[in-house]
Formats: sequence, structure tokens, C-alpha cells
Amino acid sequence: MSKIGIGFIGCGGIHRAHAPHVVEHPDAFIACAMDVNEQAVAKHQEDYGTECGTTSIEELLGNDAVDAVVVCTPTGLHPEHVTAAAEAGKHIFCEKPMAMTVAEAEQMAAACDANGVLLQLGFVRHYCNEWLKMREIIQSGMIGRPVVWRSVSAGAGPRSPWFLSAKMGGGPFIDGAVHNYDWARFTFGDATRVCANLRTMKAASDAWDTGTAVVDFESGDQLIMCWSWGLPSGEQPTPGDAAHDILGPGGAILFAGEGKLKVNTADGPQMVEFEQDTGPDWFRRQMAHFVECVQTGAQPQVGAREGIEATRIAEAILSIGDVPAVVAL
Ligand SMILES: NC(=O)c1ccc[n+]([C@@H]2O[C@H](COP(=O)([O-])OP(=O)(O)OC[C@H]3O[C@@H](n4cnc5c(N)ncnc54)[C@H](O)[C@@H]3O)[C@@H](O)[C@H]2O)c1
Repeated sequence: MSKIGIGFIGCGGIHRAHAPHVVEHPDAFIACAMDVNEQAVAKHQEDYGTECGTTSIEELLGNDAVDAVVVCTPTGLHPEHVTAAAEAGKHIFCEKPMAMTVAEAEQMAAACDANGVLLQLGFVRHYCNEWLKMREIIQSGMIGRPVVWRSVSAGAGPRSPWFLSAKMGGGPFIDGAVHNYDWARFTFGDATRVCANLRTMKAASDAWDTGTAVVDFESGDQLIMCWSWGLPSGEQPTPGDAAHDILGPGGAILFAGEGKLKVNTADGPQMVEFEQDTGPDWFRRQMAHFVECVQTGAQPQVGAREGIEATRIAEAILSIGDVPAVVAL
């Protein structure tokens, strides 16, 4: 079987988490890289040895060596880029969030179906041992149900300004928190309602950059998030990019680091071990799954439904803004 040719649409920050795993994959290669920024294309070519580089999406999608694309552009552009790739008959890996609105996400899914191409979404926690172990502990009933997952995160936010544009990136309650919405759905089941109270702290932001949101699930489980990208550069008051714990009627799960989760129950604390892995391991497994799906025609484990449902939660939270309200999903 010939190698799968992958094209990159967008050669910015996150594309660097994917590109090495295409280069090292025995059954795939980077067939072409595209970005509107010429320097980003040139840097990609220099770093990954890709011969074909272009600033034209038509040229990339017209290239017969490109079997599949990895969409790494600002979120507000995902609908345009995914639809164009689907219409060109290319299989698609699209970074999260799928889109800024459910309507757009549904149109993207329909375009992929109509053109018979696969769509995988970049919810990389599905390939991370720590998150998988956390889900396993909750589902085993070790701390009982229902549970409350508390997530607290604050910092200056990502470097590119579009992340804090309401139209292109939408701020942390869609861009960063969409990982939580997806993981909560994967672990708890479907969400039933959200409430929120959001703020904009940064003068340069027209998106909600700070606030609190609560998501309820039909299982009775709950996700509570307090999140900000409104701090000045350099501020990082919470460890890493977030602090999490999960509270249940039978105890609590704490993220202890170094390949362990600490579970406190009435019987005392227990350390639950897992094989510790790092970001590159998750991204490598995620890309390997995409290549395998393209080779075999199998549906990706994380696809349009996950993308649409996570966007539904985000869209409802953003619709509330700074006047607290409850929105049914
Ligand atoms: N999986 C994760 O954990 C994760 C982490 C970071 C970002 N992301 C997501 O990945 C996407 C990209 O984020 P990023 O951090 O790489 O952003 P970035 O700003 O670093 O890079 C975006 C790139 O897209 C290019 N671009 C802009 N308009 C374009 C167009 N019309 N055609 C082609 N290229 C264009 C820019 O020139 C830039 O190089 C976003 O949806 C973001 O939410 C996911």
C-alpha cells in the first residue's frame, strides 16, 4: 500500500504538535504544507523537509499526492477549510473546536458525509493516559456518583490575538474549555443545561475572556469551571494550565502528577498508578489513529458528533455572557 499523503492547512503553533508524527509515521508523509503566511510555510519546509509549500489552498487541495488534510487554522476558518477539503475529496483531521457555532459544525459534518470523506476531531485527551485513568476511576464507582468535576485555570491566554476575537476564537469558554466539554460528555454522557456568568477583562478582547460556567449532565454529574485568559502576560497563578479535582459522595480524585492519581475515600488515600505519558505521546497516538482510519476507511473514534456536541455546550455558555442565566440544551 502506498503511503498516505498529508497536507497541512495552517502552519502555526499546533501544527508543530502534529507534523513530527506524520514525518515519523512509516505509512504517511507530508505531501504539502499551506499557510497564508509565506514565512510560516518556509519555516515548515525547513523544519520538516517538505518539498511542496504554498500559500494557495486551491493548489494544496488540487494536489493529487494529498490524500488527507490536517486543518490547523483559527477556529472561525474551520468551516471554510473543512468544507473545501471535503469537496476536494480529502479526508480531514480538524483541530478543536470544530467551529464557532453548531449550525456551522453541522454543515461541515454534512459536507464530509456528502463527499464520502472521514472527519476526525482533535480532542487529544482521548489519547492521554491520565485522562483515561480519571474516567476509568469515575466509571468504576470508586468515589460514587454523581460527581462534581472542578476545573480552575487562569493566565494570559495563547499568543495569537485571534484567540480573543469573538468571531475567530471566542476566548477560553470555547477554545480551551471545549476539551472539558468533550471529556465530560465522554465520561458522564450528554449534557442537559448550562449556566454561566462571563466577563471581559482585557481591553484588546472582544470575546468573553474570564468567568464561571456550570454544565449539568443527564447522569446528575456536573462540571464547574472558573477560567480566565484576562491576565497580563507572564501570570500563571494555577499550576500548569489548569487545576482539577473530582468530588463524589464516596471521596475525591486529585491529580497528583508523576503517573499517579490520588483517590481519597473513607478508607484513606490511595495512589492509583498509570503509565505516565507526555504531550508528544498523545499527539503521536492521535495521528496514528487518523492515518489508520484513512488507510482502512474506519470511522475515527472522535468525530463530527463529538465536535458538534462540544460546540453546543460552548455556544450555549457564550450566549449567556455577563447576565447570569440557565440555558437548556
Ligand atoms: N489540540 C489542542 O490542544 C490545541 C492547542 C492549540 C490550538 N488548537 C487549535 O488549533 C487551531 C490553530 O491554533 P494555533 O495555536 O496553531 O494558532 P496559530 O495562530 O499559532 O496558527 C494559526 C495559523 O493559521 C494560519 N492561517 C490564518 N489564516 C489562514 C488561512 N486563511 N489559510 C491558511 N492558513 C491560515 C496563520 O498564518 C497561522 O500560521 C485552533 O482551532 C486552535 O483552537 C488546539
